[in-house]
Amino acid sequence: MKTQIGIIGGGPSGLLLSQLLHLQGIDTVILEKHSREYVLGRIRAGVLEHGFAALMREAQCGERMDAEGEIHDGFYIAHNGHRHRVDLKGLTGGNSVVVYGQTELTKDLYEARDRAGGVVIHNAEDVKPHDVTSGNPFLTYRDGDDVRRVDCDYIIGADGFHGVSRKSIPKESLREFERVYPFGWLGVLSRTKPVSPELIYAKHERGFALCSLRSQVLSRYYIQVPLSDTVEDWPDDEFWEELKRRLPDDVAGGLVTGPSIEKSIAPLRSFVAEPMRYGNMFLAGDAAHIVPPTGARGLNSAGSDIYYLYNALLDHYKKSDDTGLQEYSDRALSRIWKAQRFSWWMTTLLHRFPDNIPYDDRLQHTDLEYLFSSQHALASLAENYVGLPF
Ligand code: APR
Ligand code: PHB
Repeated sequence: MKTQIGIIGGGPSGLLLSQLLHLQGIDTVILEKHSREYVLGRIRAGVLEHGFAALMREAQCGERMDAEGEIHDGFYIAHNGHRHRVDLKGLTGGNSVVVYGQTELTKDLYEARDRAGGVVIHNAEDVKPHDVTSGNPFLTYRDGDDVRRVDCDYIIGADGFHGVSRKSIPKESLREFERVYPFGWLGVLSRTKPVSPELIYAKHERGFALCSLRSQVLSRYYIQVPLSDTVEDWPDDEFWEELKRRLPDDVAGGLVTGPSIEKSIAPLRSFVAEPMRYGNMFLAGDAAHIVPPTGARGLNSAGSDIYYLYNALLDHYKKSDDTGLQEYSDRALSRIWKAQRFSWWMTTLLHRFPDNIPYDDRLQHTDLEYLFSSQHALASLAENYVGLPF
């Protein structure tokens, strides 16, 4: 098989790039390790910055997002029994975020690829990039007993944190930066009315909690748990009790509980690999960087990579201008590190760190006090949350 762009990974990054390029007449093939059902079965975050939403519209995939997603002009931070609203719209001169689940967004991207006759090869085993430092890179994958080959101009590694693309780069050509946090998030999805129309991030001495939602009939809640905990340690009743303890009384009093329809624990990690290019292979999304979920930057950071990569590839094919490709890694990383900083800061601000010394606790408290005493501090938070410009 021959194509212009060979993409490893059929998650949001790979699908969005493939769809945007298709609309410009640039051909792609996606090799995805898992089945579509598996990819669409993963519950991930659900807050889109306005720039990401605009990219979905540009990809002609924004219709259901605009119809069913909710525009949120603010969110709350709760601590010491009180809620403070962060007025995103007022603080950013009119920007907001869209609450729309990543699962739904991925479904929309798959449907768009189907309508356009896009090639997405599922259950592609042993995907491997080859000759990436040459002008003729290619991919191979196994289909049963057969090994198949896809020749391309460029390879995009959009295969997530555990994918093969980053791991195929020689160690001496890559620098990795990582911080692992000493806790995880236990998440529960339930078919209940959300406790609040806007998200609530809660700091509590027992640990962080988050009240989020997918729609007005589908709630998503999280609590900070030790890394040693398992899902079996948290029957539904105990989860709801613990969540209530960490919320202000007026919020806890209004919490509607019900059976969980999904429950999982995710560790929290910050990670960046530099540079995001090796020869003619470019990394994008979780393949190159991950953030703790606290600032809702994961999917949005993937979106900014795709924006830079898409425009760089357009310049290459339409104008024979390779500046964008040459500068891709630097441009992407400059924004990525700002998202890393913001996610680290929100995580540090709101979680209970088991090894904190009393001095650290005082600083954490002061950071929150300062935030709500300063319009400048609040504006900085809001600017980062709605998404810095591409
Ligand atoms: N070969 C082919 N495909 C692979 C391989 C491989 N060796 N390894 C992983 N994949 C596939 C995964 O099955 C997955 O569908 O690559 C895809 C990567 O998708 P994601 O992990 O969702 O990553 P990405 O597309 O970059 O999405 C952005 O940011 O913070 C997150 O939750 C957010 O998942 C979202 C991500
Ligand atoms: C979610 O709805 O899953 C969600 C929302 C905001 C976050 C993290 C997760 O910061």
